[in-house]
Amino acid sequence: MKTYLVTGGAGFIGSNFVLYMLKKYDDVRIVNIDKLTYAGNLENLKDVENNPNHIFRQVDICDAEAVEALFEEFTIDYVVNFAAESHVDRSIKEPEIFAKTNVLGTVTLLNAAKKAWETENGWKEGVKYLQVSTDEVYGSLGETGYFMETTPLDPNSPYSSSKAGGDLMVKAYGETYKMPINITRCSNNYGPYQFPEKLIPLVINNCLNKKPLPIYGDGLNVRDWLYVEDHCKAIDMVIRNGRLGEVYNVGGHNERTNIHIVKTIIEYVHDNVDESVNETLMTFVEDRKGHDRRYGIDPTKIKDELGWYPETPYEEGIKLTIKWYLDNMDWMKNVTSGEYQNYYNKMYSNK
Ligand code: NAD
Ligand code: DAU
Repeated sequence: MKTYLVTGGAGFIGSNFVLYMLKKYDDVRIVNIDKLTYAGNLENLKDVENNPNHIFRQVDICDAEAVEALFEEFTIDYVVNFAAESHVDRSIKEPEIFAKTNVLGTVTLLNAAKKAWETENGWKEGVKYLQVSTDEVYGSLGETGYFMETTPLDPNSPYSSSKAGGDLMVKAYGETYKMPINITRCSNNYGPYQFPEKLIPLVINNCLNKKPLPIYGDGLNVRDWLYVEDHCKAIDMVIRNGRLGEVYNVGGHNERTNIHIVKTIIEYVHDNVDESVNETLMTFVEDRKGHDRRYGIDPTKIKDELGWYPETPYEEGIKLTIKWYLDNMDWMKNVTSGEYQNYYNKMYSNK
């Protein structure tokens, strides 16, 4: 039985990863820690509530004492660090918490793992720290080319800069102390349990409530969308078989403009839910400051070395996703109440 310390496991990708792993393996135990910020929701984990292989603790990754205590209580084999402040728009308004969680939180985890895993002769057998990172650390692309693992880091937003800072600290522990690490850098995820501040669930939610759909700038920015389960599979593969010290880019060769995404959602809702929903809801608003134009991942390395490939085509994934939100309107209502609602009103009152 391998024990994973999963951080941020009540958030979007983290909870999908926990559900995926516990469904796939009987011999995996997950110690799931999450600060439960506005983006963390225990409702995401209700399917594993009674699973004895899932242990949840409300812990801040910046709290060194609490994190070290977990390494004393459990024999941890792997750390998978999802915990982060993850929304670019928020990082533009409040950069400090991004530096704290995404850089200092990462260092706190690295230190605790080092303390537990370093031996007189090196490192405990079979342990690994995996940092879940993003393609945004590479900056923005023009109309051609792709991000490779060798592309220099060139982040633009406070979010992507803080993620790059976290990545560099992980690399430093790998180089300096020979800590067994991997870094994955994935493109935009979509799927169940994504907080409706991000483009796809926000547009679905607004369509269902016949609210304006805010499109930043000219709407022609491009993102490379990947169904979240495919990302979870990639992380599982990298933990098991990734070469130590390596970075793996994860992406689906599925580039779409934002307008294309919005129109797909409008069409689905129009055809399946409410005929009165149409493109007149699209509202062009002020552009995001420093808005990266295009992201595109070259996933050749993870495909050639580990046999990973994206299994869910966009046309299927987007339908599954919209259907999930339709079937889980209570979830949407719950997460958009409270603190998020206040934030939403503050951020979007003019959009
Ligand atoms: P999310 O915002 O949905 O979830 C983040 C989780 O981390 C939340 O549950 C939150 O409560 C928790 N958290 C925040 N600060 C914490 C702290 N100090 N201590 C403990 N827990 C804390 O984010 P997500 O979209 O699921 O992203 C997860 C990870 O994947 C992030 O590291 C992000 O940078 C990375 N990533 C995201 C995407 C994407 O498209 N969403 C793509 C590539 C990489
Ligand atoms: O590329 C990976 C990254 O993808 C992750 O590291 C981040 O955690 C994740 O949030 C995501 O970042 P983006 O900024 O690309 O995602 P977001 O959903 O916020 O925006 C997607 C695109 O849609 C972007 O070009 C901005 C635009 N947008 C977004 C919102 C919320 C709009 O036009 N209107 C909106 O209301």
